[in-house]
Amino acid sequence: MADAKIIDGKAFAAGLRARVADGVAALKASHGVTPGLAVVLVGEDPASQVYVKSKERALVELGMNSFDHHEAADMAEADLLALIDRLNADPAVHGILVQLPLPKHIDTQKILARIAPEKDADGFHVVNAGLLATGQPGAIVPCTPLGSLLLIRDTLGHDLKGKRALVLGRSNIVGKPMAHLLLQADCTVTLAHSRTVDLAEECRRADILVAAVGRPEMVRGDWIKPGATVIDVGINRVPAADPAAGPGKTRLVGDVAFAEAVKVAGAITPVPGGVGPMTIACLMLNTLAAACRAAGAPIPAEAAL
Ligand code: GUN
Repeated sequence: MADAKIIDGKAFAAGLRARVADGVAALKASHGVTPGLAVVLVGEDPASQVYVKSKERALVELGMNSFDHHEAADMAEADLLALIDRLNADPAVHGILVQLPLPKHIDTQKILARIAPEKDADGFHVVNAGLLATGQPGAIVPCTPLGSLLLIRDTLGHDLKGKRALVLGRSNIVGKPMAHLLLQADCTVTLAHSRTVDLAEECRRADILVAAVGRPEMVRGDWIKPGATVIDVGINRVPAADPAAGPGKTRLVGDVAFAEAVKVAGAITPVPGGVGPMTIACLMLNTLAAACRAAGAPIPAEAAL
């Protein structure tokens, strides 16, 4: 069998960002509104600093306002709640993103619950999770599962009716919303996790396999149904395989053993360059959609599920 089609998330994300930029320009022209996202970072976690910088850069590139709030690691929870209250009340702010993880002295669920649901650009608020889970319109959908669904539809077409989908990983950020999106798309969905019995056997039944467990190369080639569409959400840093790379050298791998899986799957996302670039592109899309809703303008089709 020929090797799988490699799903080019980087190229799709570039196209999506261009469409968002067009939408931003159109909203400015029609309603005089510039979409704005407030990005809140508490503390100095290096990975979070990198993410936050790329979000802020993308906002500016696409013509949106970026309101940056970089706060000290020892910020009091009450002060963070007060900041969110101010952002909720600010009409120039259409989306609010609080970078996770938060320092341990802050209750993450309490913070997420304080964000006005219509400004919840991450889609983590229980109101948005509930709208998605009950199949109601208007949910803001978490960026990584939304990006994964867009790649699945670009690969298989819009109609996913009757396909068997398996989502590996039950996090609130990826696994659960991904399962709900696929269910909404009329797939027959299995949500598997670390306690699932006969996991390989479950995976082998899936026409669509989404891996989001954070375990390097856990999904082997012989877990995959021939011809399946494989979406690898994992981003794991492991020691470089090649000893010549030198000590301390690392590389990124997904949750799927790519070299094995590419020989069996019909289509597969690489790591890096698959789902990763879609996450920020979808954050931009969610911010534009929130600004459109606030202005009473039509929502971009890709964000309107
Ligand atoms: N930390 C890691 N991923 C994310 C994300 O998608 N959103 C937020 N807010 N924090 C994160």
